[in-house]
Amino acid sequence: MNRVETLLMNNPVRAWLQRSYEVPLLERLGVRLAGADVVEIGCGRGVGTELLLERWGVAHVTALDLDPAMVARARRRLSRHGERVDVRTGDASELPFADASLDAVVDFGVIHHVPAWRDAVAQAVRVLRPGGQFVFEEVTRHALERWSYRTFLEHPEHDRFSPQEFVAELERHGFVLPEPAVTRFFGDFVIGVAVKSATTPSSPL
Ligand SMILES: C[S@@+](CC[C@H](N)C(=O)[O-])C[C@H]1O[C@@H](n2cnc3c(N)ncnc32)[C@H](O)[C@@H]1O
Repeated sequence: MNRVETLLMNNPVRAWLQRSYEVPLLERLGVRLAGADVVEIGCGRGVGTELLLERWGVAHVTALDLDPAMVARARRRLSRHGERVDVRTGDASELPFADASLDAVVDFGVIHHVPAWRDAVAQAVRVLRPGGQFVFEEVTRHALERWSYRTFLEHPEHDRFSPQEFVAELERHGFVLPEPAVTRFFGDFVIGVAVKSATTPSSPL
């Protein structure tokens, strides 16, 4: 992230939005993570991980971020949770977990930063056990093409996704969405909960 986006992410307004809008919406879309073993990709400063632990009652979270500075911030924020949380550097497109080993993968606005975003989706399906949830809040091509995003923020320029393309990629990997994903702000955001089906193809074409 560039300096502007870092400021936008590391502030109380972002935390308020996540806590007061995104989390309740995801609950209405069916997120159920009590007792789960979860990875949060791109955890940033750890507000999402805090909500996973304190509001959704997950048993354990591995909080990963590519940026060591964000990892350091998250570690400070989350230290009081002791062994329930493990904060480390890590790449969403190369997850350090065995196949079918986790109950959920949580993505608060990260995959649109990953140049090979389809690899990140493939990794999510690989590490989830059948029935596991992929919980996402993503920023779409519609947002990234706006003047404000182009001028002030930096994102991969190729292979961006629309809400429909993001959901289609999930379905191609065998995810099902018990509740349809929702779009917000004229299609700028796509939010949903996808479940890995028992018959997920191991390597879809
Ligand atoms: C827009 S911020 C979102 C932060 C936090 N999830 C939130 O909602 O406030 C994107 C985060 O993803 C991280 N990131 C970018 N590419 C990543 C990758 N390939 N793997 C893991 N984290 C990544 C960035 O360092 C940044 O902390």
